[in-house]
Amino acid sequence: MRSFSAALLAGLVVPFALSAPVDDKILTPRGYRAKGNTHPIPAGGRIAHVADAVHLIAADGTVVHVASNAKPATKTQETAPEATGWVAYASWLNTDSSPISSFSTTWTVPPEPETWNDQTVFLFNSIEPSTGDAIMQPVLQYGPSAAGGGQFWAVASWYLYQDNTYFTTPIQVDVGQELDGLITLVAQDGSAYNYNCEFTNIAGTALAIDGSVELTWATETLEAYSVTEPSDYPAGSTVFSGINLSLLDGTPSVSWTTVDDTADGLSTTVNVDGATDAEITITY
Ligand SMILES: *[C@@H]1O[C@H](CO)[C@@H](O)[C@H](O)[C@H]1NC(C)=O
Repeated sequence: MRSFSAALLAGLVVPFALSAPVDDKILTPRGYRAKGNTHPIPAGGRIAHVADAVHLIAADGTVVHVASNAKPATKTQETAPEATGWVAYASWLNTDSSPISSFSTTWTVPPEPETWNDQTVFLFNSIEPSTGDAIMQPVLQYGPSAAGGGQFWAVASWYLYQDNTYFTTPIQVDVGQELDGLITLVAQDGSAYNYNCEFTNIAGTALAIDGSVELTWATETLEAYSVTEPSDYPAGSTVFSGINLSLLDGTPSVSWTTVDDTADGLSTTVNVDGATDAEITITY
């Protein structure tokens, strides 16, 4: 707050920013973002990058939204994982010339948190371009977000590109239910990549993106917002298993890097490393 006042006195904060009401922001797996830029994907819909625009296309081919001039955001708008609620995660960056063609992860819906403080917990595997200005992810969420949700677990596929956020309709899931998150490279034409993201065992979660840049950074993540006490997290741990990473030209050599939040007692452990049947545990 002190730096805010100082910035205000120095005339660095423009009135426009001051007048923007807080409720114009809504929670996404990339932090709080402009509500007006969040787009539910109609059933069977897809997303296509067309030059500098992003088209949201309904199942019948109708373009229902165009995010025009979707050029790379300025540095201050770009959100690094550290600036969002990523609290514990494991990641691997593909530096091979062959792109990631498939990235699977299996996990189980945890018990509901014992306390409710309007917190939001996201658990997912995800993939991003090296520029960090997009993310594709099959997400399990507890609590509210731009996609809806509340005091229950639900799944949806999300695609966040620069200032825009797209998600499939959340589907409620049960404690103990198995989730199979899968991201696949469907086609590649030069520097344009077509991807699909879904829970393969839950209908209505598929999200197709055409004409993306290459997605290179794979993660297994726990992200949380508005957590006020440890029991706002589910008890125990979440095991991400069956983690398989393939490249177009074969199986990469993978070593997962972990990030913990020791201050809050959250840890990430690689039980089985590598590109095939890897296993990573996040302990709350
Ligand atoms: C991951 O790879 C292992 C070993 O090839 C295989 O048994 C398993 O079915 C794969 N899992 C998925 C989700 O593809």
